[in-house]
Amino acid sequence: MVKMPARETASGLRAVARCDDLGVAPYSDSDDHLFRPYLGAGHAATLDRIAAWMTEAGMTARVDAAGNIVGRYEGRHPDAPALVIGSHVDSVRDGGRYDGMLGVMLGIETVAWFAERGRRFAFAIEVIGFGDEEGSRFPVSMLTTRAVAGVLGDQDLALVDAAGVGLAEALDGFGLDVTRFVDAAREREDVLAYVEAHIEQGPVLEAEGHALGVVSAIAAQYRFRAVVTGVAGHAGTMAMRLRHDALAAAAEMVLAVERIGGAGPEDLVATVGRMEVGPGVPNVVPGAVTFSIDIRAGVDGVRDRAAEAIQAVLPEIAARRGVGLELTLQQDLPATPCDSGLSALMADAVSAVTGAAPRVLVSGAGHDAMVMARLAPVSMVFLRCRGGISHNPAEAVEVEDVQVALEAMTAFVSRFEQTGAGAGAALTQEER
Ligand code: GLV
Ligand code: MN
Ligand code: MN
Repeated sequence: MVKMPARETASGLRAVARCDDLGVAPYSDSDDHLFRPYLGAGHAATLDRIAAWMTEAGMTARVDAAGNIVGRYEGRHPDAPALVIGSHVDSVRDGGRYDGMLGVMLGIETVAWFAERGRRFAFAIEVIGFGDEEGSRFPVSMLTTRAVAGVLGDQDLALVDAAGVGLAEALDGFGLDVTRFVDAAREREDVLAYVEAHIEQGPVLEAEGHALGVVSAIAAQYRFRAVVTGVAGHAGTMAMRLRHDALAAAAEMVLAVERIGGAGPEDLVATVGRMEVGPGVPNVVPGAVTFSIDIRAGVDGVRDRAAEAIQAVLPEIAARRGVGLELTLQQDLPATPCDSGLSALMADAVSAVTGAAPRVLVSGAGHDAMVMARLAPVSMVFLRCRGGISHNPAEAVEVEDVQVALEAMTAFVSRFEQTGAGAGAALTQEER
């Protein structure tokens, strides 16, 4: 039997190695784990490194008004509208090296692949590394994606992080100006489509033996902030029956969130991932607790019903325990279908490189694509990751899968060139 030559994996290897390089200080704000929040020192160092890689791949690189890194590979004509490939460069605290960053590296490798072959298109290709997708620093997520899509809310520019640093001050420290933040917005006619490659962050592809999957839709999300106000008191003298313990009340609320999240369909999830206790000392009955509630489901209605249940039950707990409760909706990201035409192109590209029909799946994780969908049609391809583990330093991918993903991305771009949108870019140019 003739042995098939092993797949050439140099580009996949480079993409993975670069993510690994960026997984430690000075690209992380922590010396012993990966934490790259928006506008931190690690973010700044990362952008310098990515700009150099973008330039080497044949792009011009710039940092936009919101702190996103944007590489541009010109089309055959200057000013052509762009096919944008992107993902995010920020991480959660103690995160993995591939969540977001691998998609940015695959964007760079996609451009490098065409540049090495001297191929240009009727459209430009831009690669964007979004600065804030996770919401690790400010209370909401996808701030910089929303800036690019032109859908910021009035309250966004007044955000303050947990250390009391406002967005304006943080931007200033990064050499950016909050009054120009909205200038990161792109015009609809300049963005033909948005494509994102991302690790699955779940176990399905691995369990079913697929290297890649095509995303049909991204789950709806809500983020709430709950503030419980009790009465602080001496832990030694305050009788149990007289207490208004904010943390004990919050604990009961967390269990209610878990119960409601677990009582719906499989795709409904509800998480309390962050909690601050005041004053937070061993010999004081807690007087104040702030915690986050993250609720997600594949369709808006399921998420909304869970949110309604939580909004009904938590005040009951507060009233019974004699504590105050303030619940504030901080973020509402509706369920986002990917564009069916682009997804069909992506499915065709995946089939061509894997030799099998792609697994189609819904993403429970949020992605920049769900905000970019408000600007342009979007498509996403998922890569299997080891054990489905993510938001965890144990996140891992196989180089061969990354190479297959790169081949699917280049196959997608070639197919996109034949479509109305890709070919239309040429027409528009010639008419100019
Ligand atoms: C981002 O990873 C999210 O899904 O919250
Ligand atoms: Mn993430
Ligand atoms: Mn991500």
